Amino acid sequence: MNRREFLKLTAESAILMATTGIRKAIAEENAPKRLIFYFTATGNSLYIAKELGGELISIPQIIKNADLNYTADEIGIIYPIYQSKAPEIVQKFIKKAKLTAPYKFAIGTYGKKQCNAVELFDELAKENGYTFDYINTMLMVDNFLPRFDMNEELKIDKHEDEQLQQIKADLNAHKKWHQPVTQEDRDFRNSIVKQYGEMLPVCGGILAQKMLKINVVKSVNLLYALPKKEPSEREVFCR
Ligand SMILES: Cc1cc2nc3c(=O)[nH]c(=O)nc-3n(C[C@H](O)[C@H](O)[C@H](O)COP(=O)(O)O)c2cc1C
Repeated sequence: MNRREFLKLTAESAILMATTGIRKAIAEENAPKRLIFYFTATGNSLYIAKELGGELISIPQIIKNADLNYTADEIGIIYPIYQSKAPEIVQKFIKKAKLTAPYKFAIGTYGKKQCNAVELFDELAKENGYTFDYINTMLMVDNFLPRFDMNEELKIDKHEDEQLQQIKADLNAHKKWHQPVTQEDRDFRNSIVKQYGEMLPVCGGILAQKMLKINVVKSVNLLYALPKKEPSEREVFCR
């Protein structure tokens, strides 16, 4: 290759790289801005938030801010389901915040039976002037430890990947859908509340973290999912 050919090739490569860069920048600029607000006690909901991508904002870290006005193309809330409801801190956030987005979604993670969680989230949203386009739930490892043996729980395949792929596809298509609720779901939750009262959404987060810290779960090394500040990974927790 002579000098002239070399210079021509270099110039062509530079142009190609520049146009690729510009195309990428335009694509990124045009990509919908997705904001995800999450609360997690033991890592499941954080894992989902990370998988869904966008900008992640921890609800406990911002709840005390005076300004909770947020605008984006897509706003999502990811939370653990406690007695079929959103934890109290998530409820407070929805009451206090001003969320503006043409597409809003919520995903509640749960361990066994979420009953009418979708309907209860929808009611909470509507009471605060919001219409969520998409509300779904995701079955994951149950962290309500007094109820079962965690070692057994970890062995159960809850098909998380399949559920997650479906949710990702739905959100990317801006699907408008609420997971259906039956009268049986409502009756079941009502019977639980009658029996035990309604207190878990209030103290649930603390309870879940306490359960991780005590020896109940030492054998499965769940503390890995709970570093000092907040869980950052949940691979060990969920497998
Ligand atoms: C106080 C408390 C209440 C819970 N209530 C329910 C429930 O009603 N139904 C259910 O299926 N799982 C329930 N769970 C399990 C959690 O919803 C589930 O493990 C969730 O994915 C945990 O999310 P996190 O790791 O992000 O905190 C409860 C857990 C706790 C600690």
